[in-house]
Amino acid sequence: MKLLVTGGSGFIGSNFIRHVLATHSDDRVVNLDKLTYAGNPANLADLEHDPRYAFVQGDICDATLVRDVIRGVDAAVNFAAESHVDRSLMEPDAFLKTDVFGVFTLLEAVKELKIPRFVHISTDEVYGSVERGSSRESDAVRPSNPYSASKAGGDLLVLAHWHTHRVPVLITRSSNNFGPYQYPEKVIPLFVTNALDDQSLPLYGDGKNVRDWLYVLDNCAGIDLVLRKGGEGEVYNIGGGHEVENIVLTRQILQLTGKPETLIQPVKDRPGHDRRYSVDSKKVRQLGWTPRHRFGDALAATVAWYRAHEAWWRPLKSGEFRAYYEKQYGHR
Ligand code: NAD
Ligand code: TYD
Repeated sequence: MKLLVTGGSGFIGSNFIRHVLATHSDDRVVNLDKLTYAGNPANLADLEHDPRYAFVQGDICDATLVRDVIRGVDAAVNFAAESHVDRSLMEPDAFLKTDVFGVFTLLEAVKELKIPRFVHISTDEVYGSVERGSSRESDAVRPSNPYSASKAGGDLLVLAHWHTHRVPVLITRSSNNFGPYQYPEKVIPLFVTNALDDQSLPLYGDGKNVRDWLYVLDNCAGIDLVLRKGGEGEVYNIGGGHEVENIVLTRQILQLTGKPETLIQPVKDRPGHDRRYSVDSKKVRQLGWTPRHRFGDALAATVAWYRAHEAWWRPLKSGEFRAYYEKQYGHR
């Protein structure tokens, strides 16, 4: 397959490109990425000289460029997004541009150039907070913050292109990912790197919000399966099946880093903080997917990765990040 991957220089996209080239030796990948603060060429430095991999810097909202790079591919997989809820509360504009208009731009190119397959990467957050039970793919979307609302907008456009034009689309909605190369604004890499530096861990509210954690390599295997075996027009949830309260996760991180619980600093809650996400993954399991990594082992491997890759994350926590951190946490 010749693939276009958009947003491939971010966390999940870079893991996905590495997964594809490792498991399908004849595949080729073009990565179109704008290199926002979250896009990092270092995430794929090991593929720089691989003749099967090519990088193009650019924006998925740029219709001319998108048509140029998508022409002739067998499939496109869209990871490009503004992805952090807290940033969407402060500066939502970029979320609407990339997560809605960017998706629309890709869909129009897929339609016009008759690209055989388009996989759109979405999130369990589009279902909104789920107090009981687990969200099914057929459930209505009820997003509750600017990030999830813009992702839901993207999803609805994808499905609209299927219903009206039979554009060959598929959507995955995964739960919270963790693993190597995750930008240290998200809770696991933030707390791991803060703990390694003996800095406090800002835990929102009562610490009892629940997320369902999925190791990034399990998600990549699920997305790859959906890409090759999924049904057109279908949505697939991909959940880790490991739901845990933030306070429990925080204590595990402190245990793995060998740091004291006195580092936990309860701070003012995130406005509109969704209490719990939970997805039913029966449909993707029926395709043949199952998570291969046990949560405890994967979290330990992740902590070990951040411990061993200080040269990767330390530059990311300086410069722009300091200003972001002050704005985000300073007043709490
Ligand atoms: P990320 O923020 O680490 O990476 C996003 C990438 O997209 C970056 O490389 C960035 O430069 C690129 N990008 C942003 N705007 C762009 C634009 N306009 N044009 C081209 N490239 C652009 O995000 P991630 O955590 O890897 O998430 C990838 C996808 O998975 C997103 O769509 C996100 O909504 C979804 N998702 C993430 C999680 C999670 O836990 N991280 C869970 C479920 C779904
Ligand atoms: P996050 O990694 O931002 O993912 P999402 O909000 O998309 O689920 O946050 C995961 C959980 O951790 C969420 O309930 C918010 C909480 N959290 C904190 O308690 N402190 C923090 O500093 C951050 C970033 C998140």
